[in-house]
Amino acid sequence: MVEIDLDITRAKTLPSKFYIDSQIFQSTISKFKSNWTFVGHTSQFDENSIFPITINQEQLIITKSDGEFRCISNVCTHRGMILQTEEECKKTLICPYHGRTFSLDGRLKNMPGFENAVDFPSENDNLPIFDLEIWNDLIFVSQDPELSFSDWIKDVNERMSFLDLGKMAYDSSRERYYTINANWALYVDNYLEGFHIPFVHKDLNNALEYNQYETELFETSVLQIGIAQEGVPYFDIPEGHQDSGKKIAAYYWWLYPNLMLNFYPWGLSLNLVKPITVDTTEICYSGFILDKELLGKGAGGDLDKVELEDQFIVESCHLGMKSSSYKRGRYSPTMEKGVHHFHRILTDNND
Ligand code: FES
Ligand SMILES: [Fe+2]
Repeated sequence: MVEIDLDITRAKTLPSKFYIDSQIFQSTISKFKSNWTFVGHTSQFDENSIFPITINQEQLIITKSDGEFRCISNVCTHRGMILQTEEECKKTLICPYHGRTFSLDGRLKNMPGFENAVDFPSENDNLPIFDLEIWNDLIFVSQDPELSFSDWIKDVNERMSFLDLGKMAYDSSRERYYTINANWALYVDNYLEGFHIPFVHKDLNNALEYNQYETELFETSVLQIGIAQEGVPYFDIPEGHQDSGKKIAAYYWWLYPNLMLNFYPWGLSLNLVKPITVDTTEICYSGFILDKELLGKGAGGDLDKVELEDQFIVESCHLGMKSSSYKRGRYSPTMEKGVHHFHRILTDNND
């Protein structure tokens, strides 16, 4: 469909139609089901929890029963009614339309009026189950994974192994939900470069050494590293680790297509970029604490301010995409490697 030149010095950016064309949007989103999506932290779920979620226009439920987490369909196998709309704790799912009953592992338990139905119940009457993985108490699901979860997360896992991620504590006060008037990919584009920091984020620019900002590319992820200015908290990285000796204030990981894991000395700020329509996106923030004393300091200090500064830019660029005078741009070969990599992955996946 669209070619992004492998050579960044020659390449042109994604054409504007990618960000505003509903058909391109639908076809991109339909492929999201082969990716992994974050859904929550294990501590958010009590026994017999039923937690409905919408992922990439798919209606799903996360359940916990007998200590086990599952991801099942939220669509009744009878005539397609949505089974659960509110978060609740109970042992069975009962369809509000005609009373079909399921256990929390998705098995059909009971259905009135089907006594004479032939070959009933069959496997097809159970609720479909999707893949679910837990990584340091963070829960991820996929409907049809192309990459195994361990392959998808392996670069983050290796690089961040010096942190005790198993000790991260979920902090509900750090949850944020923003709906923005922009295409999801514009939000990702903006995240993938530190080029704009001196122009857009004046306070953050005082925490990071702009000239030492680094970008590393991986198969399906991008890592950006922010080096601390004098007096700004940085990670204590043990000898033997490849980053040992560096004063790193932030590791900014993006994992294809829409997950951002921002590690700061205080802990992890996780952002999920949920495409809603071609020109509406929901940004979900979650926070997990490793060192309370360092909260509010340094590069990960005032995230709300940085977020609003980014949203202003992204919404404005979305208006720019609708202009007949803009078709596509070019990349800075030194500062926009991450954006170029994202566009290459995106267009490869949309062939
Ligand atoms: S649609 Fe669920 S019981 Fe009929
Ligand atoms: Fe930004």
